[in-house]
Order: sequence, then C-alpha cells, then structure tokens
Amino acid sequence: MDIRQATNANLLNLPENYTFKYYLYHALTWPELSYVAVDPRGRIVGYILAKIGHVTSISVLRPYRRLGLANKLMKQSQEAMVAHYNASHITLHVRKSNRAAISLYRDTLGFEVHAMEKGYYADGEDAYGMRYLFNKPE
Ligand code: ACO
Repeated sequence: MDIRQATNANLLNLPENYTFKYYLYHALTWPELSYVAVDPRGRIVGYILAKIGHVTSISVLRPYRRLGLANKLMKQSQEAMVAHYNASHITLHVRKSNRAAISLYRDTLGFEVHAMEKGYYADGEDAYGMRYLFNKPE
C-alpha cells in the first residue's frame, strides 16, 4: 500500500483522518487485511484499512463510486480475516447520517447494528456500532 496516496484519498473523503504512523501501524501489524483499488495508471482510488476483526476506515474517490469497489475491498479484507486470523466477527463504526456506507454494510454485506454510541465523533455525531458474524447462529 502506498500510504501517502491512501492518506490523500482519506483526506478527500472523510473527516476522520489518520496519521501516516497509524496507516503504517496497520500495514506492518496486519499486512494481509488492508487493500487498495487502483486506476489503470496505478493511482489509488479506494482503500480499506483494517485490523483483526475491525474495519478502521474505507473510502472510494467520488468518480469511482457505485462500481462495486468498496464491496470488493470489504470482501477481500473479510476473507483475509478468516483465512489468516480465524476471526469470528468484524466490527466497525459509521456515522448515523452516512446512508451510503450503512447501505453498503447492512444491505450488501449483511452487517447488523449492535450498538449506538452517542457523540462518538469529534463533532458530536452519534455512531452506529455495526457487526458481522462469520458463523451466524442457526
Ligand atoms: N446510496 C445508497 N446506497 C449506496 C450508496 C449510496 N450513495 N453507495 C453505495 N451504496 C450501497 C448500495 O447497496 C451498493 O450496491 P448497488 O450499487 O448494487 O446498489 C453497495 O453499497 C455497494 O456499493 P459500492 O459500489 O461497492 O460502494 P462504493 O465503491 O461506491 O463505496 C463508500 C461506498 C465507501 C461508502 C463511498 O461512498 C465513500 O467512499 N464514501 C465516503 C467515505 C465513507 O463514508 N466511508 C465509510 C466511513 S465508515 C468506515 O470507514 C468504517
């Protein structure tokens, strides 16, 4: 992962920005779990930053949205969590107002809301804590 390019996509897309060191920490500790999507010239147009059982951040540049990239990035990371770490579940936080991301997680990928965290974000917005169980109880 070219961390500087991924950082750029993060800055353009989300108010939650992470330091270079934080990306490096993910890439060095869980190298199998973070992925990028690139255009034909190799420029990063989307990324997923993840650790065991948790998606820290995902975003796709605006002109490349609704092409299935985020869905693919999530699935690659989910598969790697099971293959490399035998993860039982994945969690993430999402802003209550983020309809696109909530629809991706809930409708496309089958995540469920398991908690509501009041004032989770720096600007006071609430978060949904969402969770995906790999082995759902029958
Ligand atoms: N409105 C409604 N549903 C949507 C939207 C939207 N704007 N975008 C995606 N979806 C849902 C749809 O169900 C879609 O399936 P469909 O196109 O067949 O209808 C499904 O998600 C899959 O869409 P993708 O094409 O894979 O998603 P995309 O590549 O466009 O990326 C993302 C979605 C990451 C949410 C993008 O809009 C984005 O970068 N937003 C800004 C950053 C952001 O909000 N990131 C998530 C923050 S939470 C976190 O990082 C843990």
